Amino acid sequence: MKKRLLGLFLTMTMAVSLAACGGSKPAETTAAATTAAPATEAAKAETEAPKAETEAAKETEAAKETEAAKADGKLIKVGFAQVGHESDWRTASTKSCQTVFSEANGYELSFVDCDNDEAAQKEAVRSFIEQEVDYIIIDPIIATGWNTVLTECEEAGIPVVIIDRTVDDSDKYVAWVGSNFKTEGLAAGEWLKAYADKMGISEINALVISGSTGASAQIGRSDGFNEVAEKYGWNILDEQTGDFTEAGGQQVMENYCKSYEGKFNVVVCQNDNEAFGAMTAMDNAGVKYGPGSDVILISFDACTAGLKDVQAGKITADFECNPLAAPFVEEVLQKLEAGETPEKEVYMVEHWYALPDQIVPFEIDGVAQEMTEVTDAVIEAQY
Ligand code: AHR
Repeated sequence: MKKRLLGLFLTMTMAVSLAACGGSKPAETTAAATTAAPATEAAKAETEAPKAETEAAKETEAAKETEAAKADGKLIKVGFAQVGHESDWRTASTKSCQTVFSEANGYELSFVDCDNDEAAQKEAVRSFIEQEVDYIIIDPIIATGWNTVLTECEEAGIPVVIIDRTVDDSDKYVAWVGSNFKTEGLAAGEWLKAYADKMGISEINALVISGSTGASAQIGRSDGFNEVAEKYGWNILDEQTGDFTEAGGQQVMENYCKSYEGKFNVVVCQNDNEAFGAMTAMDNAGVKYGPGSDVILISFDACTAGLKDVQAGKITADFECNPLAAPFVEEVLQKLEAGETPEKEVYMVEHWYALPDQIVPFEIDGVAQEMTEVTDAVIEAQY
């Protein structure tokens, strides 16, 4: 049985949280605890010093346990083939995985940044098979071409967990944890319809800067937005890929500004980094964007920098893609460790962001959507 240091930590944390919440705890208990605190600074220092020693001793003990687990080969070996490092979203996703699958938590993580190279990603997976890792995590750069390598994982007896983007041509994985990209695209479209109606805008001429072609994040967002565009008879003037990067977004927008000068009133960027690049291009071309300007700028991801641009009145609405999947992947691995069957699909919770004047009621397939107002606190809490 593999050692689960995290399990112990979680149990302790949960116990602490439960004690701290104390919903039904009578008021006197809290008051008594407050009264029992040391009256003087000296007494306080005396009480706190042993507490600090205990904490330090606990940390040393945990470090020793980690070293012992490592030496005994008891850490759970996880290989993670990450897409690359193209965006703020990606950085947050990598950080989340590295934090959760740390040695201190009982894991040995082999991390490969595949730099958006499909062949390199398959190679990374095969290297994990050779290393005989216990589990493989893949964030597939593109949705297709996976069946052969996933069959190899299956034959090697290594369970695969897919995160974020989907694999569309194989079901040889135990679980997937990620986002509903089509819903994100539908949300952007239906919000735009409601906002345009509120602003009295009857004609939509949209330019789309899409993500990496063939990535399920690109496919889903394009499908969702295009479905709404078709429903309302909007003109999609062009859709070119910015590869989910700032440089890509800027380059595509520079071309758009020349080719479609004065002809567009909506720009849809399929992630915040593309929007940052598109804004630079529009600034340089003298195109005004944001609420109350010539162009409505829509973005996806809602990373911290993206939400700051919503707050600054540059991005009109931002549709979240949540990169913090690692804790849920960890739950999947815990279930597998315990011999249980995890859920095959786990969807991340996501929010749609705007400033109050841009918050309008809209529905997706008859379901009313909530929008979240961007405030300092919201930005502070974001990734
Ligand atoms: O797959 C998720 C997408 O990939 C995010 O929207 C984007 O920022 C990232 O690079």
